[in-house]
Amino acid sequence: MPTVLALETSCDETAAAIVRDRTVLSNVVASQIAIHRPFGGVVPEVASRAHVENVGEVTAAALAQAGLDWGAIDGVAATCAPGLVGALMVGLTAGKTLAMVHQKPFLGVHHLEGHIYAAYLSEPTLQPPFLCLLVSGGHTSLIHVKGCGDYTVLGKTRDDAAGEAFDKVARLLGLGYPGGPIIDKLAAKGDATAFPLPEGNISLPEGGFHRYDSSFSGLKTAVLRLVQSLQDQGVDPLPVADLAASFQAAVVRSLTKRTLNCAVDYGLTTIAVGGGVAANSGLRQQLTAAAADHGFTVLFPPLKYCTDNAAMIACAAADHLARGHESAWSVGTQSRMPLTEVMGLYSR
Ligand code: KG4
Ligand code: ZN
Repeated sequence: MPTVLALETSCDETAAAIVRDRTVLSNVVASQIAIHRPFGGVVPEVASRAHVENVGEVTAAALAQAGLDWGAIDGVAATCAPGLVGALMVGLTAGKTLAMVHQKPFLGVHHLEGHIYAAYLSEPTLQPPFLCLLVSGGHTSLIHVKGCGDYTVLGKTRDDAAGEAFDKVARLLGLGYPGGPIIDKLAAKGDATAFPLPEGNISLPEGGFHRYDSSFSGLKTAVLRLVQSLQDQGVDPLPVADLAASFQAAVVRSLTKRTLNCAVDYGLTTIAVGGGVAANSGLRQQLTAAAADHGFTVLFPPLKYCTDNAAMIACAAADHLARGHESAWSVGTQSRMPLTEVMGLYSR
């Protein structure tokens, strides 16, 4: 397998990494969480500027950490879609420039394919087919992984992503940003049965509910109404731990049920989880237990490979490069791009 240096700048982490044979030789992440915290979320223009400031430094650090020079690098990769266009542009331009200067092949990488490849980093012997549950601040998808570049999206959210729901509910409870880890911690001290909350079912015209798609905006509104009604009743302080636990339980119930539905219907006995919400302790417990009941295996890669990082991008790019895939210099950024169009990024 080739040795690939990759850059990832699709949102608020400036990351560089080097991967060979599904082994991480270096993994550097400059997080912007502290910069965006005062705004309560990621500010795209601020993210782009911070990427410009950090990208050179993280690239040099990735080479130094791996103890390699450019002679040892077989290809350069950068995330090119989907994500914040200005942010993506920084990594893509830096990656193309480095590839040109050092005369290496260049590969644009789909961010979600990177998240899928995090599973191979934690389990290098993993073979498709498997089911990937990708739950982050921007995405909630159930993906049937059939091979390199060969994916079918079986389920998705119809509105907010799971992580986005955690962040929005944390904000309305006045808990700070990012909300997922804060709610997770608080939920451990609360009663998950205190408030019955909807799991967000999608009704089908013919009756019944969609087995794989989720919806979290109704759940968020239900928490908002509940908070307003508690405040109207003069409840002070709000029972934030019980609210957090009840909300988290509804999200976990929704994700666990839909993931198991997919795994059973498609006969996929291995489930890999990716994205920042994979850190959630409730999801880890319940999905692992539910899968074990069916005799399925669940892989939760280490958190550093679940949240945005460049090692997962390098791992995906190395697999494509080994198959002779390369991107044209004209490859551009796209804020949205279906996973099914991944192979369009490569000219051969
Ligand atoms: O994958 P990620 O780092 O970035 C995106 O690509 O979005 O995911 C960030 C998301 C945030 O919404 C954050 O609140 C959520 O992951 N998150 C969690 C936990 N840790 C991070 N959500 C629930 N429980 C957690 N422990
Ligand atoms: Zn991501």
